[in-house]
Amino acid sequence: MALSGCSRWRLRQSYHLCLFYITGFLSFLCIIIIWYCVNTDRDYVHPLLTQLIPAGHCACQTSTTFQCASCLTCSHPGLVQQLSPGPAWEFQPARDSSNEGLDRAQCTNAFPGLFEDVVRATGFWKSQGALAMDDLDEIPLAYGMARAFIHAGELYVVAARSKGEDHRRKIVAVLSSIHRALVADANRTSQRDIEFVFSVEDKVEDVTNSDHPVWTLARSATEEAVWLMPDFGFWAWENIQNSIGPYDQVVNRIKRADIPWSEKKPQLVWRGKPSFAPKLRRALMEAARDQPWGDVKQVDWDQRTNIIPMEDHCQYMFIAHVEGRSYSASLKYRQACNSVIVAHKLQYIQHHHYLLVPDGPQQNYVEVERDFSDLSDKLEPLLADPSLAERIANNSVRTFRERYLTKAAEACYWRRLFEGYGSVWNSSVPVWSEAYQRERGLRYESFLLMDSQLMFEFDALRLSY
Ligand SMILES: *[C@@H]1O[C@H](CO)[C@@H](O)[C@H](O)[C@H]1NC(C)=O
Ligand SMILES: *[C@@H]1O[C@H](CO)[C@@H](O)[C@H](O)[C@H]1NC(C)=O
Ligand SMILES: *[C@@H]1O[C@H](CO)[C@@H](O)[C@H](O)[C@H]1NC(C)=O
Repeated sequence: MALSGCSRWRLRQSYHLCLFYITGFLSFLCIIIIWYCVNTDRDYVHPLLTQLIPAGHCACQTSTTFQCASCLTCSHPGLVQQLSPGPAWEFQPARDSSNEGLDRAQCTNAFPGLFEDVVRATGFWKSQGALAMDDLDEIPLAYGMARAFIHAGELYVVAARSKGEDHRRKIVAVLSSIHRALVADANRTSQRDIEFVFSVEDKVEDVTNSDHPVWTLARSATEEAVWLMPDFGFWAWENIQNSIGPYDQVVNRIKRADIPWSEKKPQLVWRGKPSFAPKLRRALMEAARDQPWGDVKQVDWDQRTNIIPMEDHCQYMFIAHVEGRSYSASLKYRQACNSVIVAHKLQYIQHHHYLLVPDGPQQNYVEVERDFSDLSDKLEPLLADPSLAERIANNSVRTFRERYLTKAAEACYWRRLFEGYGSVWNSSVPVWSEAYQRERGLRYESFLLMDSQLMFEFDALRLSY
């Protein structure tokens, strides 16, 4: 209709104008459709349309292959020989998993492969020379960041910035984890002093550029300058909307609710909001649609539909894990179940990801492509022989829930981070500021007791008492 109308205008100019309008209209329509696909949380979006969705927040399609030099599957000849005679000390989950005070040798013995990222970052900064106070002074402190130091084994807060309660809580949780790891170390006064900046935001690029030596929750493979720290959820994750609590308490709740393997549903469960990472999450929804083994649904928090509590995920043999804007903090909660984690090739690395083993006798999760194209191929053999899946679930529990995600492991990691960072830190860390004639930091103990309003834009040098 419109075209025949056009042709009647005859004039070439009008023809071009018409073409221009049509192209404009079609582009506009296209933008609207893509915008809709990216932002909708509807269950079904036609696969042709999901093809159009840009990778979006998960900026590229690449993923990380974990090549862990001191990984799970390697033998550790150095650990076998004990310095002192007598029975060799060995990590026993029931006895040791809550012990935050394991000594250095015990940490090394109990958690091979856990300190991989500290070793990596230490090597990186050695190759760059060293780290000094100037390197930290160059980092603008964005919202969600804090600067602190450890002097003679005590923790001091220099500055902290929070945009809202969520940041503040996460910063307090990270500082508390650091403090816990610190005070459990009988030798802390003889460790090196360090000063550092950390971020509680999901992504490095949210707050800073990736050339800075910032302590972060996750990194991509190319962000080599940052240091990974365990996430705030190990201390406790207290959302504004819901209270999740300390990680080890979640684990205990899950253990209480756990059911025998044979009673678990032979299905893959996933609940979440597709709009957080539409490309990835829609791919999973498509791959599982109409499959007898699929129980993959979008959650609507406002209508409260399709929500299932954390513990109830454990009633399924398979639990899917999909990255969100960045890493997804939910992985460790899923790993608390005696179930098989099914994850796409990951792009973001957290401190414990080096322990993920995708195949072989130590296999502790199932890895699929980022578009989930091989999901069904990977699941079917495991559904056909559930004892194969049970072995993977057993390995996951033994590796993560009972060992690398315990409080003992977390404290060991923090102390190894202090040590690795300390080995490239090349400045003294004074408590007293000559320029300001006052203390540069507020002790953690005092910071914690401050009115929370004062924590939002905290600067020890500008603090008025
Ligand atoms: C403290 O240091 C001593 C000597 O360096 C060492 O034998 C001991 O294991 C250390 N203790 C801890 C808890 O790391
Ligand atoms: C450490 O600092 C000292 C004194 O500022 C300097 O001479 C030395 O070169 C630094 N070391 C490295 C590895 O940068
Ligand atoms: C998994 O662990 C349970 C409990 O420890 C055990 O009974 C079962 O035999 C294990 N299954 C496999 C396949 O290893």
